[in-house]
Amino acid sequence: MPRKILVTSALPYANGPTHLGGMTEMVQTDIWVRFQRMRGHHCTYVCADDTHGTPIMLQARSEGISPEQLIARVGAERRRSFAAFHVSFDNYYTTHSPENRHYTELVFRALDAAGHIARRKVTQAYDEQAGMFLPDRYVKGTCPRCGTPDQYGDSCEACGATYAPSELRDPVSVLSGTRPVERESEHLFFRLGDFEPMLREWTRSGTLHEAVANKLDEWFEAGLKDWDVSRDAPYFGFEIPGAPGKYFYVWLDAPIGYMASFANLCARTGLDFDEYWRPGGDTELHHFIGKDILYFHSLFWPATLEGAGFRKPTGVHVHGFLTVNGQKMSKSRGTFITAQRYLEHLPPEYFRYFIAAKIGPGVDDIDMNLEEFATRVNAEIVGKLVNIASRCAPFIARAHGGRLATGLPEPELYAEFSAAGARIAAMYEAREYSSAVREIMALADRANQYIDQRKPWLLARDPARAGEVQAVATQGLNLFRVLMAWLKPVMPEMAARAERFLGTGEASWTSVAQPLLGTVIQPYEPLATRVDPKQVSALVEALAPAAPSPAPAPQEPQVGPVTIEDFSRLDLRVARILDAETVEGADKLLKLTVDAGQGARTVFAGIRQAYRDPTVLVGRQVVLLANLKPRKMRFGVSEGMVLAAGPGGAEIFLVSPDAGAAPGMQVK
Ligand code: MSP
Ligand code: ZN
Repeated sequence: MPRKILVTSALPYANGPTHLGGMTEMVQTDIWVRFQRMRGHHCTYVCADDTHGTPIMLQARSEGISPEQLIARVGAERRRSFAAFHVSFDNYYTTHSPENRHYTELVFRALDAAGHIARRKVTQAYDEQAGMFLPDRYVKGTCPRCGTPDQYGDSCEACGATYAPSELRDPVSVLSGTRPVERESEHLFFRLGDFEPMLREWTRSGTLHEAVANKLDEWFEAGLKDWDVSRDAPYFGFEIPGAPGKYFYVWLDAPIGYMASFANLCARTGLDFDEYWRPGGDTELHHFIGKDILYFHSLFWPATLEGAGFRKPTGVHVHGFLTVNGQKMSKSRGTFITAQRYLEHLPPEYFRYFIAAKIGPGVDDIDMNLEEFATRVNAEIVGKLVNIASRCAPFIARAHGGRLATGLPEPELYAEFSAAGARIAAMYEAREYSSAVREIMALADRANQYIDQRKPWLLARDPARAGEVQAVATQGLNLFRVLMAWLKPVMPEMAARAERFLGTGEASWTSVAQPLLGTVIQPYEPLATRVDPKQVSALVEALAPAAPSPAPAPQEPQVGPVTIEDFSRLDLRVARILDAETVEGADKLLKLTVDAGQGARTVFAGIRQAYRDPTVLVGRQVVLLANLKPRKMRFGVSEGMVLAAGPGGAEIFLVSPDAGAAPGMQVK
């Protein structure tokens, strides 16, 4: 019987570009999903952007756009990146959706009605100047334990102490720099402790990897505390019904986003929501997440589901973090590789392969050592796997018009390859991808040894042995076909190209049980090419911000003093970028459509190298020199100039007004 499986990846925050760390999770999940589909199961994969919360609200503000504009822009970038890496979502949605509001309210009402919500006053840091309560991370000060200055309000990076923001010495709000005051407000709490017996049992019922379940025991020992699920305005999220000015904390509505994305898919397809989300059915629910969000998924989430009358997850699969050359992914270390940057240098399937070769079912971190990356791609994908096909194909094409032999010289060898499928399937199922890849590459070694022993290139010199040559090459290509099928969850595009080359239909897990004989194959085109290690190291080059130079020499020519009248001749206006696109044949220019309060106009700006993905500019406010004489350029007329700072090239920074400014306002 085909299984009915619903799979999710964690919902990425909608305030930054996709990076290879986030992509690691998508790749891990997608391999599992594609594997299940190849096995004939009904596997649905949903995800969404996680759009709510203070950081997103503040980032939108600092860019002078609405949160909706910010999440639309980031959402568009994400969808493109995930598609480019072949992540096969059935639905990629957003938590800022009517479905999510519906299910969040539904869940909350059910919890409240069942007595799982407590109300009580809390005292919190409040920034009087910014007019808002401050999350712990928005308060900084001196560590009360060791005295290190400039520490966040929740913990000290120097001594590891954890504390409340009110315990900091000399606290300041990172928003305004002023000293926060204490203010009281009523909050709503989810009584997690009500669910302790259920959670203790659920965490030991095969839903979690053992190492993860052990971690949970520590949390049980420490005691399950009530969870604050409300936040005060201003907040970007869903207002709580019956509690004006209070919003659901983002971490309450985020996992409900899994349901909402699925509900949105159900409305478009014949899928039945209740079959997957109400208890007692025969469907499975699997979440893939990183180790940093384990608490939410293994305690709050199953308890929320249980309390609101929904089913609990079948499995929560927790992975470690991707590091680059042994370093955390970080902008300051120069190891923050975005998905887009990777795509500018390398094919996406090499990353998928590398992750598969490194990742297992546990929570260990995965290091992307760039030398190892180049070596594995070249030695394994190109040198072992694809090599089998490129060695054998010419013998079939040249002497036999592309036709394979009608029998295999070594059927036992083929049977051995095809029998390995059961073992490899068990490994994929258990998310032991690195073992699966190791097994497949060991088989690739065997296939190459077979060709080495039979030496078709020598046999081919003797016309009398043409049949033998055809048979050996047919054997080799059949072994290749089997391996490509086992690797299809990892490298779906390369596998599809191999299927076209071999003239077969789409492989399923069982379709390689029988060899391919007597049929015609297509001319061979390289399925993968070697990477130059330089191409790979280019991923991180120039990513670390340059150290500030000691005394910056003035770079601009000095101009004499100007009068206020000189200045007032410039009509500077706030403008909103409505559209931004690249210009064919001009690698420095972007074509911007801007609105400075009088409708759309076109401006060509030499900022392309600084904004490689022009869509990030859409919605942003800038300063426009509106009365610059229109200039006719090769690509069209430019009606103004946007102001930017920086030396040039990739280091150009558009000047933006503060939040509150609106298109058309004069800058003076
Ligand atoms: N929005 C929350 C998740 C809500 S799920 C209901 C969140 N977002 S995130 O963008 O910070 O992270 C998304 C996922 O990417 C998480 O599972 C996180 O663990 C994972 N990763 C983030 N950085 C990573 C690496 N460097 N390596 C591997 N995974 C990483 O958390
Ligand atoms: Zn300290």
